[in-house]
Amino acid sequence: MSTAPKFVIGNWKMQAQHERGLTLAGDVTKALEDTPPPSHIRTVICPPYTQLSGVNHILRKHDLPTERISLGAQDCYPAPSGPFTGDISAKMLTELGARYVILGHSERRQNHGETDAVIRQKVKAATAAGLIPIVCIGEHLAERNEGRAASVLAGQIEGSLTRGFRGIVAYEPVWAIGSGITPSHEELQRKLSLIRALLPMRLMTDDIRVPVLYGGSVTSVQTPSLLSIDGVDGVLVGSASLEAQSFLDIIRAATEVPSSSPS
Ligand code: PGA
Repeated sequence: MSTAPKFVIGNWKMQAQHERGLTLAGDVTKALEDTPPPSHIRTVICPPYTQLSGVNHILRKHDLPTERISLGAQDCYPAPSGPFTGDISAKMLTELGARYVILGHSERRQNHGETDAVIRQKVKAATAAGLIPIVCIGEHLAERNEGRAASVLAGQIEGSLTRGFRGIVAYEPVWAIGSGITPSHEELQRKLSLIRALLPMRLMTDDIRVPVLYGGSVTSVQTPSLLSIDGVDGVLVGSASLEAQSFLDIIRAATEVPSSSPS
């Protein structure tokens, strides 16, 4: 019987200088090659655009199947090509070896004014180019404290996912990102149940199981408890993905969580 995949996705953001990024990718890949995690563990590294090609070269130099360790980008432009100075299309990402792309991260929603509608266009573009979109959703602290988290999440799911969405959703409460705070087990369980209930309504089918990840201050210490929550299929890791050892510790922690068969 096959086991459901567990994703460990590292989002380097704009934080690793070129040589450091390549060394980090090399260290992670070498360690995974020396002690391969079970096949249901899917590791994805998402470096800045400028490092995609170099990191891809390193990942493929090692003897690991693509689905075990893959390359992802942190954004793409909605149009396939055209006069868009400074932008990068989904197709260009695939040409550099990317299989995944993070879309709608809260830092892009906030710093670049990305709306759900724009994110949905990006999802379409990414899917058309053959990329797997990882769409981030999550409420701000004030929205949570005012009891509006459920409607925010419902709006983001409705607005940023396409009807035929085939990708990954990452629940990242904005207040947990980079803060060292993670939601309690109970709160996360509640949010996950809500997201799991909202997804089939948006997709208009019960048949597709969309992997849902948790992100926000993930370390190896919380990984087992995060992954033990019903409906969590992996973690999206920021700061802790910038050191080989801490990222590898998270991968190992994910390995130790008993895995379920796909539902
Ligand atoms: P963090 O970032 O792990 O540093 O909180 C997570 C993210 O922004 O994806």
